[in-house]
Amino acid sequence: MLGASLYAGAVAGGYVVALDHGPAVEEGSGSLAGIARKHGRVFGTAVGPLIETSPDYGRLVTAECGVVVPEYELKWRHVAPTPATYDFAAVDRRLAFAESNGLGFRGHTLVWHEALPRWFDEIVGTDNAAACLTAHIRTVVGRYAGRIHSWDVVNEAVDPAEPDGLRRTPWRRLIGPDYVRLAYETAAAADPRAKLVYNDYGLVVSATDAKRDATLRLLERLLARGVPVHALGLQCHLQVGTRLDEARVRRFCADIAGLGLEIMVTELDVADRRAPADIDARDGAVAEVYRTFLGCLLEQPATSTVLTWGLSDIHSWLQTYQPRADGLPCRVLPYDQRLRRKPAWNAIAGALAL
Ligand code: G3I
Repeated sequence: MLGASLYAGAVAGGYVVALDHGPAVEEGSGSLAGIARKHGRVFGTAVGPLIETSPDYGRLVTAECGVVVPEYELKWRHVAPTPATYDFAAVDRRLAFAESNGLGFRGHTLVWHEALPRWFDEIVGTDNAAACLTAHIRTVVGRYAGRIHSWDVVNEAVDPAEPDGLRRTPWRRLIGPDYVRLAYETAAAADPRAKLVYNDYGLVVSATDAKRDATLRLLERLLARGVPVHALGLQCHLQVGTRLDEARVRRFCADIAGLGLEIMVTELDVADRRAPADIDARDGAVAEVYRTFLGCLLEQPATSTVLTWGLSDIHSWLQTYQPRADGLPCRVLPYDQRLRRKPAWNAIAGALAL
């Protein structure tokens, strides 16, 4: 176990943490939700079965967050086991957790080309795709109407390589480009109170503006037609080693805000597979990415909400989908596997306090 070394996080509020992998020692530290709230923002995280199987983790989420989102259980594949039946049991439990602990609840996601039901290809075709899409949205959004902080209505629809800027998803293929308008208008009719978000990745880390420009054009087209889109969700699945082009990101955020849209950081995490094995060095490198990227995004007043994609290294999709070559467990989130704060926590706290 390495000796203690103070990581003077130089973050607002003078948080200081001991880096001996022991319990963090913050002076005057609050919670990420409390710091966010103090600056007119909301902080949260993605949740799953762990909040039930680990009461300590559930308590930590409640203490640190103001909003939660199901990591996968609200996706079409997981709520619609057959074309004729829905199973909302897991989502109902996640929403009950949120409501009983005074947390907001995000819906993720209604229209995506992944996590489609296993029966999708055999049932859905050009003749019924629009009806299937609207029936799904009405069923799911209608069930939770009035109880949802915001919905990721359409997820990852942009492809700058396509002439119309839209990824050739089953929805684009079966319905045509108008599926996006149809999705948002159906969701707005089913829950007029929910904030409706367009969610995507590769908008902050990309070295070129191609996807940013295509996304901006899509949002401009939708808004010009009066389509009810209220916010852009920036997933922000970042990496150690990714260079931040602050000028490009600032300009993009200003353009989005200029459309009258809110900006939400929806799935923030920092993959550490390119970081050193040494834990102090790795934690510091991960924290630096959180600090610089989140700091840049939160300079924009339209950035209202920040959610990480998990709160503790006990569970991250990155452990499965982007594992380290050396096989060491990933250290990508604000808390370690023993629910102790890491430098990433301080970096996020500092950015939220800007
Ligand atoms: O653990 C359950 C198992 O109990 C169940 O029987 C089985 C039924 O299929 O599912 C298992 O869950 C898996 C889940 O991850 C466990 O975490 C799902 O199979 C698997 O599909 C799911 O993958 C999720 C993936 O989206 C696809 O939905 C990841 O958790 C989730 O982190 C990832 O999140 C996506 C966002 O939705 C969109 N942005 C990118 C992000 C990362 O890929």
